[in-house]
Amino acid sequence: MANNKTGFTSSFGVVMAAAGSAVGLGNIWRFPYICGQYGGAACLFVYLLFVFLIGMVLLMTEFVIGRCSGHAPEKAFPALYPKRPSWKLVGLFGMFTCFLILAIYLVISGWTLGYFWESVTGTLSSIANDGFKGHFEAFVASPWKPVVFLVVFLAFTLLVILGGVQKGIEKVSKLLMPILLVLVLLLCVRSLTLPGASKGLDYLFHPDFSQLTWKGILAILGQALFSLSVGMGAMIVYGSYIPRDSNILKTATWITVCDVSIAVLAGIAIFPAVFAAGQDPAGGPGLVYQVLPVVFNSMGTFGQIFAILFFLLLSLAALTSAISLLETLTAWLSDRGMNRKLAAVLVSVAEAALGVFVAYSFSGGMLSHFTPGGMNLFDWVDKLTGAYLPPIGALLTVLFFGWVMKKEDIYDELSNHGVLKVSWFKVFYHILVRFVAPAALIISLVAGIFT
Ligand code: TRP
Repeated sequence: MANNKTGFTSSFGVVMAAAGSAVGLGNIWRFPYICGQYGGAACLFVYLLFVFLIGMVLLMTEFVIGRCSGHAPEKAFPALYPKRPSWKLVGLFGMFTCFLILAIYLVISGWTLGYFWESVTGTLSSIANDGFKGHFEAFVASPWKPVVFLVVFLAFTLLVILGGVQKGIEKVSKLLMPILLVLVLLLCVRSLTLPGASKGLDYLFHPDFSQLTWKGILAILGQALFSLSVGMGAMIVYGSYIPRDSNILKTATWITVCDVSIAVLAGIAIFPAVFAAGQDPAGGPGLVYQVLPVVFNSMGTFGQIFAILFFLLLSLAALTSAISLLETLTAWLSDRGMNRKLAAVLVSVAEAALGVFVAYSFSGGMLSHFTPGGMNLFDWVDKLTGAYLPPIGALLTVLFFGWVMKKEDIYDELSNHGVLKVSWFKVFYHILVRFVAPAALIISLVAGIFT
């Protein structure tokens, strides 16, 4: 069983750490661009529906599995249903997903840290507006830059994990998450007060349902799961650290609200500025690294400061997510009996190795010619972890929860053994967990793979 010596100390700590996990690169560079691509406010509407009806259900599901079993994912499933130990495969599947996500995360975080450094030293502000595309391409193709920053970023992450759950993860999250909120609000104010900003808001909030295809709906569902860090066991690990007297419904609601708010605020910070500077809002990695520097340059003297703030924001958001990913893998190995610190170091070494391969897979990089099926390694990992693996993990988890695990155990855990009133349980369990979530996941997976 989870014990309070190794877990989080308070509900506030749980919310900060789990919101730190959820708020990441997915919110700040992926969400705004997906919104732009799939109909602005129409996308936002579907996203909110998915996040609150399916993402939050999964968040609570994973929290219950974690706190009730007191184990990391591999042992958590069999602990709750000993008759079939093979359910541990769901946990292992999640570990595989986390392993891949962390590698790609390290690569992108390395770029972000590099850009933060270059905005501090002034390199970035000395580039002409038409030079940023070339600069980015040269940066990712450089044989040493992406790797050096990747390793530095990983070292920060590892340090926090070596500090432990309370003195490392909880403390750092409690410090960084409020800073992150202030940073994103500052950037919003700046962006909204630029001349011509309203065009960016129109782009983000004008509902255009004609853009909302089936494919778009799937992309939005994938984004909702990825963004809440669910479907891969990470929240099972954090769930096992939740104090016994914390209210799981309340903490999950707060985490979801934080995640959604930061995503929307990031959109408000980015698009008005992009339009005000007359840039193309077409997104992806390019938006943040190739378009935003132009925006900052056009802000005049304070542009450099806003560039520093933005890349700091993105680095911090990525850091708390990377912490959660490394913790998940570390907790998994240490739950199997390995020394915790050794586990953290071993995982880091393996991630650095995979990360370097991924980092070198861009055009100009040493591994850019390795393109099985026409995609480079980065695109492969990105596709797998963004689109396919999380919904599969989420489906298996929710099926276990709704159809295999004992209903009484779930009720007990959600009500803190009868202390809390959970009158919403019927709707939650009988409708959302057993039917709505699995159906939505199956439909989207089938449609996603076969259309
Ligand atoms: N939620 C993170 C983001 O939005 C990414 C993520 C996906 C993640 N799965 C995770 C983070 C597991 C930590 C643990 O960027």
